[in-house]
Amino acid sequence: MKSKIWQPIRSLFHGDVKDQPAPTESAPLPPEIVAAVVPPQNRPPVESVPDRLPIGGGGLTVFDAPEALEINRARMDHLASLGLAIDGKSVLDVGCGVGHLSQFFADRGCRLFCVDARAENLERLAELYPGRPNGLANVEKDPLEQFGRFEIVFAYGLLYHTENPIAALRNMTSCCDEVFLLESVITDYPKPILRLADEPVVTKNQSASGFGCRPSPAFVAMALSRMGFRFVYTAKTPPRHEDFELEWRGDGEWQRDGHLLRCIFVASREKLENAELVPLLESEVLQ
Ligand SMILES: C[S@@+](CC[C@H](N)C(=O)[O-])C[C@H]1O[C@@H](n2cnc3c(N)ncnc32)[C@H](O)[C@@H]1O
Repeated sequence: MKSKIWQPIRSLFHGDVKDQPAPTESAPLPPEIVAAVVPPQNRPPVESVPDRLPIGGGGLTVFDAPEALEINRARMDHLASLGLAIDGKSVLDVGCGVGHLSQFFADRGCRLFCVDARAENLERLAELYPGRPNGLANVEKDPLEQFGRFEIVFAYGLLYHTENPIAALRNMTSCCDEVFLLESVITDYPKPILRLADEPVVTKNQSASGFGCRPSPAFVAMALSRMGFRFVYTAKTPPRHEDFELEWRGDGEWQRDGHLLRCIFVASREKLENAELVPLLESEVLQ
């Protein structure tokens, strides 16, 4: 039937098509595409989502699970090892959870403001760290400039929980005057791509919408450079944790051997002379 419709159109634009094979009715989708797009009713239950983030099905204890404390230590020891100018700066901690990582900046005399999309996380933060300024905001929708401008914007463990990472990055970078510190689960792929992932909303440290994303490092670097950060770096030595100590294979995966794949990014409006950082943009290498 379809070929009958196509025939006159092709004849019109390309002349007689009598000798050409008729187009197939509809090519089947390759099996790997079908496998990737599992319909919602066939999704695994939350407990079996293959993601090593602590998934407790709700409750704030996820922020104090042994795995969470272990990766917190690795990430913050690593941030300290980079020797960046942080002391006394104004810092916005986006996706702060219950505020554990913000203590790093409080210890360095920073003017801190913490933001999260979940009120219950911020209530716990107020109990644990009384007097720490905080505000409720969804990084994909609510302008962060309402909280002011900041020399440093810090977003560890957040980007991959967003369904629209470009909106989130635009929002975070728009109130950042100097340095943007970012940590994310990434897709191991050399081109600027993004994978979509299911995430359980009930879990307090994950996506607020039900979708997460897994950008490639090139995606992050390209987006940040177009948002006005001329210098985008990663760390020469990654945090001492299996999620970061990965062998780059370019295989399009975001988890391997039972753990997530993560990367640290430091984006700056000015060039940073720092032997611990490796430029990710070609233009930086030339400068
Ligand atoms: C994995 S936890 C990270 C907590 C802390 N930053 C860390 O790295 O340990 C992710 C946090 O981001 C918050 N979050 C998720 N989606 C968000 C969104 N769209 N806007 C703001 N916060 C969000 C969650 O509520 C959760 O507290």
